[in-house]
Amino acid sequence: MSDSGTGTGGTGGRATGDRVVRSFEDRFGASHEVLVRAPGRVNLIGEHTDYNDGFVMPVAIERAIWIALRPREDRTVRVWSADYEEEATFDLDALARGGPGWAEYLKGTAWALQEAGHAVAGWDGVVGGDVPRGAGLSSSAALELATARAFTAITAAGWLPDTMARLAQKAENEWVGVECGIMDQMISAVGKARHAVLIDCRSLDTRPVPLPDGTVVVILDTATRRGLVDSAYNERRRQCEVAAAHFDVPALRDVTPAMLDEERDALDEVTARRARHVVTENARTLAAADAMAAGQAGTLGRLMDESHASLRDDFEVSSDALDTMVEVARSAPGSRGARMTGAGFGGCAVALVDRDAVDAFIEATRTGYRAQAGREPAVYVTAGSEGAAVVS
Ligand code: GLA
Repeated sequence: MSDSGTGTGGTGGRATGDRVVRSFEDRFGASHEVLVRAPGRVNLIGEHTDYNDGFVMPVAIERAIWIALRPREDRTVRVWSADYEEEATFDLDALARGGPGWAEYLKGTAWALQEAGHAVAGWDGVVGGDVPRGAGLSSSAALELATARAFTAITAAGWLPDTMARLAQKAENEWVGVECGIMDQMISAVGKARHAVLIDCRSLDTRPVPLPDGTVVVILDTATRRGLVDSAYNERRRQCEVAAAHFDVPALRDVTPAMLDEERDALDEVTARRARHVVTENARTLAAADAMAAGQAGTLGRLMDESHASLRDDFEVSSDALDTMVEVARSAPGSRGARMTGAGFGGCAVALVDRDAVDAFIEATRTGYRAQAGREPAVYVTAGSEGAAVVS
């Protein structure tokens, strides 16, 4: 499974949108009225910093969730999943958990919108996508943002990307019950073709930064998943809170390298390493944005390499498979840098690669990883795509 998502003009995966539109016609015997799309993401740098009020720099990818819909007169949502081949129906005035798991993201988003006082209305629709599930490419955030886009498209509600990202995060935290930061929802809302987006996770200020000329971003799925990722993630969050409390600041974002040095002996060894990762990762992310603005692919790649070492040694969220993939990628032709991406413990790595060498890079990485890990990786090339939008 490899695809070259370059040159798609920002709303990549249109074939998936067409599939969803055809499915709507089959299901409802009429044309849809609105088609929305929200992308998955890969994070270039700035890992485990979002819930520390820090900086992240993800890329919205071509792979996305699409919803084709038609408004209804009543307050019922009837939605067919083209991927799971099952239907879910819910009443916007009597939202309750239960039914297909994928529908919880739609219900949770409808709930969060209403909790915040936004108008919602009923619709018939078909949802489908091509973001691999469970791979760490944020298919959940894409589904939440597509749902928010669908509701706002058929009501008078305006589309405010940050507000919608916050509501989608609330749906995930409080309805679905998964602790996550704001990164995935924000990038699905504000992504930009051929750019990464530097996000300040405290103010939600965003700055699009162009991917360096002559390079592409390659996503390397280790084909490993780890079940305990949620509990390990929550444990890391708690450790960061303990560290911030020690410094008497709201979040580790407020800790400088000098403060960390001074307090090293006062913190227990594990907490000190967790804090060091976050403090140094924030600095690397800001440096990476500057390097990209200056077109310095080499500097960006080096910062990605350093990020991996910090996640592996200080934050301890890598895995043997991720370390193997990163090593293999770094020695492949055209590589500028590579690191694990997302929550960790399995899932994907990300590499910055010279465009001219991308075929040789993919071949060498596939062969090397297969030989060393005994698994078949999935590889996706991305040039970045636009955030959640009404497509037609
Ligand atoms: C997951 C979460 C994000 C972020 C990353 C780690 O993807 O959903 O909010 O914390 O892990 O950077």
